[in-house]
Amino acid sequence: MATNKLTALCLAMATLLTPSTTLPLVSSKRQTIGAPCTDVHIFLAKGWNEEYPGRQGKLAGAICSGLSSCDYEDIQFYNTPEADYCASVTEGNTNGVAQMTAYADRCPDSRLVLSGYSQGANVAGDILGGGGGRFGNETVYCTVGDTVGLDRSTSPGNKLGAALIFGDNRHVANQPYNILSGAGISANNPRFPDSLTRMNEFSDILRSYCVDSDPVCAAAGPGPFVVDNHLNYFDIYSDDAAAWVKETLGL
Ligand SMILES: *[C@@H]1O[C@H](CO)[C@@H](O)[C@H](O)[C@H]1NC(C)=O
Repeated sequence: MATNKLTALCLAMATLLTPSTTLPLVSSKRQTIGAPCTDVHIFLAKGWNEEYPGRQGKLAGAICSGLSSCDYEDIQFYNTPEADYCASVTEGNTNGVAQMTAYADRCPDSRLVLSGYSQGANVAGDILGGGGGRFGNETVYCTVGDTVGLDRSTSPGNKLGAALIFGDNRHVANQPYNILSGAGISANNPRFPDSLTRMNEFSDILRSYCVDSDPVCAAAGPGPFVVDNHLNYFDIYSDDAAAWVKETLGL
């Protein structure tokens, strides 16, 4: 398949996300190797073509606000317009599990939080449920590499205290953790049943945000679609999501 066709697909499926401005964060920072362990440690999977940490930087700041020991770490993956959508997701899935495993090994008393947005929501969901299979349509598609999702009974799965998904390219209607007006609508490439079953083992600590006008997570719905409503989740819902994370962590 021609690269330009896949790029066009990514543009169409993931929508045009321009790199967001990195927001100044008061109480959270990029994790560095050897940094002290924090009580709450957030992993962020960025949206398509975002710079680290992307729009979710605002969410990380809101979660860490008021906490004395909290920071975040970017899941490393390359997802500029030149990158293959599926290759980027596979890289994020592999690195995300590896980074969470390494952190939990080094900091076994820390509570972990996972958040993913747009293409990064695909990554976060795959980290929970396992990745693989096609993304695209009948004629233009790519294939995500097979990865195993987290096991909730062993580290780092048993260290995860809350997980968040926003504007998911793999959104599936009517899941117990879906909220907002798009809760009953699926994306064009919904999560595959076996991965969904495994992801749902985390249902009680999971929340998926989707509005019905989001052309990504609610793409299979009637619309009307407003691209801005795929881009503004963190302007509108960061405080709500942060409060839910704190409540879910029992803080
Ligand atoms: C599949 O996706 C490509 C790229 O977005 C698009 O050009 C094409 O029209 C789509 N085909 C179908 C059958 O929807």
